[in-house]
Amino acid sequence: MQTGLLHLHNLLRWIILILLLLSIFKSYVGSTSKKAFDPADKKIWLFTLIASHITLLLGLYQWFFGRYGLFTYVKPEGVSMMKDPYLRFFQMEHPVSMILAVLFVTLGYGMAKKNIDDQAKYKKALRYFILALVLILVAVPWPFRGLVARPLFPGM
Ligand code: HEM
Repeated sequence: MQTGLLHLHNLLRWIILILLLLSIFKSYVGSTSKKAFDPADKKIWLFTLIASHITLLLGLYQWFFGRYGLFTYVKPEGVSMMKDPYLRFFQMEHPVSMILAVLFVTLGYGMAKKNIDDQAKYKKALRYFILALVLILVAVPWPFRGLVARPLFPGM
């Protein structure tokens, strides 16, 4: 089960990235044209929110109970999390950055429900989605990340 959940966590990254890029595109178009807020855009933002929240739940499971889980991983004698770049990445840098990214996606989606001018909705959502994208791109363990590298697709 542990491996299956990690594979799902890995795969969902692509769904989030595609939906987030689409959300950014939609909010950019909305903020540069003078069009009224389109409920279809809210739907795409909602799918982005759902995908990121599912990934968050799977991530929280990995964080607490996974192979390197805070409650399950037994550190070898003398190893400290902050001094070990691998542990620091998976036990702190990745989870904290991604929680922030999911928070930004949530704030971006929240703009759809805010009682403000349509152009302001698009502009503010665009900012939040871009912040989320940057954090995700920086905190994913891409195959070129050396020590913390992980495959692009599960089981590769
Ligand atoms: C947008 C959100 C996220 C994305 C795109 C993402 C992406 C990834 C990817 C690609 C991996 C490597 C998977 C593999 O080895 O096959 C990973 C591992 C991991 N993620 Fe995330 N993650 C996200 C959010 C989170 C969050 C919020 C947490 C914790 C609260 C988290 C905790 C972890 C942990 C602990 C691992 C390592 C698990 C292990 O190797 O056993 N992730 N993540």
